[in-house]
Amino acid sequence: MQAQPHLTTAPTAAIAGRTMRALAHRRYGAPGLLSLEDLPRPSPGPDEVLVKVHAANVSIGDHHVIDGTPYLVRVTPYGGLPRPRNLVPGTTLSGVVEEVGAQVTAFEVGDEVFGEVGHGAFAEYAAAPARALASKPRALSLEDAAAVPWAMAALQGLRDAGNLQAGQKVLLNGASGAVGSWAVQLARHLGAHVTAVCSTRNVERVRALGADEVIDYTKADFLQGGARFDVVFDAVGNRSVAEFRSALTPTGTYVACGGGGSTWFGPLGRIVWMMLCSPFTKQRLKPLLAEPNAKDLALLAEWIDGGHLRPVIERRLPLARAVEALRHVGEGHAQGATLITMTS
Ligand SMILES: NC(=O)c1ccc[n+]([C@@H]2O[C@H](COP(=O)([O-])OP(=O)(O)OC[C@H]3O[C@@H](n4cnc5c(N)ncnc54)[C@H](OP(=O)(O)O)[C@@H]3O)[C@@H](O)[C@H]2O)c1
Repeated sequence: MQAQPHLTTAPTAAIAGRTMRALAHRRYGAPGLLSLEDLPRPSPGPDEVLVKVHAANVSIGDHHVIDGTPYLVRVTPYGGLPRPRNLVPGTTLSGVVEEVGAQVTAFEVGDEVFGEVGHGAFAEYAAAPARALASKPRALSLEDAAAVPWAMAALQGLRDAGNLQAGQKVLLNGASGAVGSWAVQLARHLGAHVTAVCSTRNVERVRALGADEVIDYTKADFLQGGARFDVVFDAVGNRSVAEFRSALTPTGTYVACGGGGSTWFGPLGRIVWMMLCSPFTKQRLKPLLAEPNAKDLALLAEWIDGGHLRPVIERRLPLARAVEALRHVGEGHAQGATLITMTS
């Protein structure tokens, strides 16, 4: 990897009142266009809390929003036209509640929380909707808890979209990344027989997370060999829908979590094709859009405290090195979560 510069501090006028250090996203492009600035602290709305951020998870999704590709992202609530709607990026965090909105009853000042914010996590303070926060798992440090909300896609993809049952066979494509590392553990915890697809360098790590069988995609093709799965959970999008269907039982379920697609529309073409095919097959074809909610975050925390799951954290970098973190996840070869820490 090339040498990564620290973020330069944009010259900012002294702002009266409460300010914070934050990454500012003023135009779409490479992470190097972001600047570290002094910005006003957000004020929480009636159903929000103000969180003093301890750590934020950096994901491939954040990279898409900052880069503005696929271009489709610009017309979603995460994007904006002609320039980014949200000044501060970053969607998942952990931290301590500093202020509580008038309608919030679930949290008090001083509570240690983790969850989703939609935007604004790459800062010292973030306003977070209370409905997408939960109390930190007791078994984790506050910093590590920032990695947990990214498990939501794996949980909802396997349990809800996939309807994965104990004893069923599941294939996890992309088992070594941030989502995949959770998916292996969750599928195992749900009682499934887990076949994981990853590259050579990740085989032992993925096996240690709980995979029963591991297919090294640099040496073998999961489509060869004739195995059929009840659920295929796809976090890579590197094969056609027809190819994934060929790895399913006649009534199996394909869950499209992400990856692949065009520069303009991302996964939309795949999703439309799945919808067109659905009426003509007994196989279930399910696009996934994970929805953050406190109930699932609390369930994940319970399973972590029970020793069934743990976050896999690959890197921790301070806010001033956020560009390096974003470039790393943007390369698409993550080996778990990358965290930006606010305290160090
Ligand atoms: N639908 C939703 O709600 C939702 C939510 C979260 C994420 N997502 C999407 O899910 C996808 C995965 O997210 P992520 O955070 O896990 O990404 P990530 O951390 O970048 O992981 C991607 C993983 O895929 C592996 N990989 C690359 N090529 C592969 C291949 N041919 N076969 C198997 N594995 C391969 C990579 O490892 P190697 O290159 O070393 O093999 C890497 O570990 C992204 O597209 C993301 O946008 C969707």
